[in-house]
Amino acid sequence: MEKIFSGIQPSGTLTLGNYLGAIKQFVELQNDYECYFCIVDEHAITVPQDRLKLRNNIRSLAALYLASGINPEKATLFIQSEVPAHTQLGWMLQSIGYVGELERMTQYKDKSSGKEAVSSALLTYPALMAADILLYQSNIVPVGDDQKQHLELTRDLAQRFNNRYNDIFTIPEIRIPKVGARIMSLQDPTKKMSKSDENEKGFISMLDEPKRIEKKMKSAVTDSEGIVKYDKENKPGISNLLTIYSSCTGESITNLEAKYEGKGYGEFKQDVANAVIALLAPIQEKYQELIESDVLDDILDQGAEKASFPANKTLNKAKKAMGL
Ligand code: ADP
Ligand code: NA
Repeated sequence: MEKIFSGIQPSGTLTLGNYLGAIKQFVELQNDYECYFCIVDEHAITVPQDRLKLRNNIRSLAALYLASGINPEKATLFIQSEVPAHTQLGWMLQSIGYVGELERMTQYKDKSSGKEAVSSALLTYPALMAADILLYQSNIVPVGDDQKQHLELTRDLAQRFNNRYNDIFTIPEIRIPKVGARIMSLQDPTKKMSKSDENEKGFISMLDEPKRIEKKMKSAVTDSEGIVKYDKENKPGISNLLTIYSSCTGESITNLEAKYEGKGYGEFKQDVANAVIALLAPIQEKYQELIESDVLDDILDQGAEKASFPANKTLNKAKKAMGL
């Protein structure tokens, strides 16, 4: 069976962007692939984190994966730091990666720009991400559009390792959803929606209450044209809302444009809000049950144990190939 790996950082509560760009596909893929879904806590610490908040975010992320439909009988759900092979292979891949190629990563440039002190791990993090993926001999990596460049680097590192030492790693393919690959900020539709955004009005959290979702939608930045039409270049705000609406309901953007012909933004925004609320309501309900129960810890323990077998197998092969 073909293998899949994907990870999400526990750096805040998941956004609608994380759901539509990542988790939604995971739920579909778990039926046809051997899936490894990871809470990448070691990636989260590349920027400062509050200890208690991080603990909570890890648990909350696990509950959201499950509430969204990840089934631990079908997929392996685990915490990165509980499988030490990740950092071990990460170090080995750092050793064959070049500073120059890491410095070219746009996410690194964005996250480090204007900061006085930047951790060395923020620079080398793509090597750890490559290790995450390569340990499981992943064929496919389902991610949002923002991870394209990191995936390219993963492929380069794998190929370099295979050529230099021995043919150990499967070269993974990226898989980006057709709609929802890049949900934009509601306040600045030229920036991606992110859970680490300082402006809370820019993103919809998967745990936002209906009232809050309505409010955020109402204040979403659009334009003054008054026409509901998809035009990413000239109408990024409305285009983003159309994408959100379409990915929440499955209705095509063309149909939605026709539906709102001659109608104002107020009605449109209200309907987008309702679609998001309807999508999230059952997930939020399951989340509440899970977060209050203690099955979470058992699932994560079992996940780490299950992930360790293939991870250690690959690690040992790679160590041997390198002469370690
Ligand atoms: P964030 O930027 O919110 O911290 P992560 O880096 O943890 O997100 O990414 C987790 C997954 O969610 C990745 O597959 C990423 O591509 C996807 N993702 C993140 N933001 C978006 C977005 N705005 N639209 C679509 N997918 C996204
Ligand atoms: Na991120």
